[in-house]
Amino acid sequence: MLRTGVLVSGGGTNLQALLDATGRGDLGAEIAVVVSDKPEAFALERARAALVKAVCVERKGKSPEEFERLLVQELEEERVELVVLAGFLPMLGKGFISHFRNRAINIHPSLIPSFCGKGHYGLKVHEAALARGVKITGATVHFVDEGADTGPILLQKAVDVKEGDTPETLQRRVMEEAEWILLPEAVRLAASGRIKIGGDL
Ligand code: GRF
Repeated sequence: MLRTGVLVSGGGTNLQALLDATGRGDLGAEIAVVVSDKPEAFALERARAALVKAVCVERKGKSPEEFERLLVQELEEERVELVVLAGFLPMLGKGFISHFRNRAINIHPSLIPSFCGKGHYGLKVHEAALARGVKITGATVHFVDEGADTGPILLQKAVDVKEGDTPETLQRRVMEEAEWILLPEAVRLAASGRIKIGGDL
């Protein structure tokens, strides 16, 4: 079983999709630890409810290097092979990225390269999509590199924008029709070796 660590900052619905898939026994991976940078993140409660180790590494009061060193330490303590960023807000720097090169994936709620990069997170992504008037949006799973949403793309799924959508209704549809399907699928593909993790791409 592929040992997976999930990094979260918020509600954790993507984490829940992974937990549900492990519950059904169709992820092929084990969630060894969930790490949040926010003590109040509801995602931590979701992990605990599923009897998964849940820890918080606060960023506040730490240098970026120290924060990343502690994140790596928590993940290494559980011998994590694949790191999944599921709504994890802090940008990660060289220390973390080089340690988990091609072993860390992220889910972003748009079809990259649209509506991604600095400042495009949460509802802002969907506000930007609606403001631009696109008729199709979606979600992307990609490897994490030093840039903001710039790593190699692994999976994408399109979602229709509907007349009268608000950022909230669009966010919900993108989650239901794309994110909660795509993220478990990416982990499943990594666990079965169809997405190669580690090493060179
Ligand atoms: C999701 O939209 C994800 O694509 C983005 O952050 C959001 C996290 O939501 N990276 P949740 O915490 O998984 O509910």
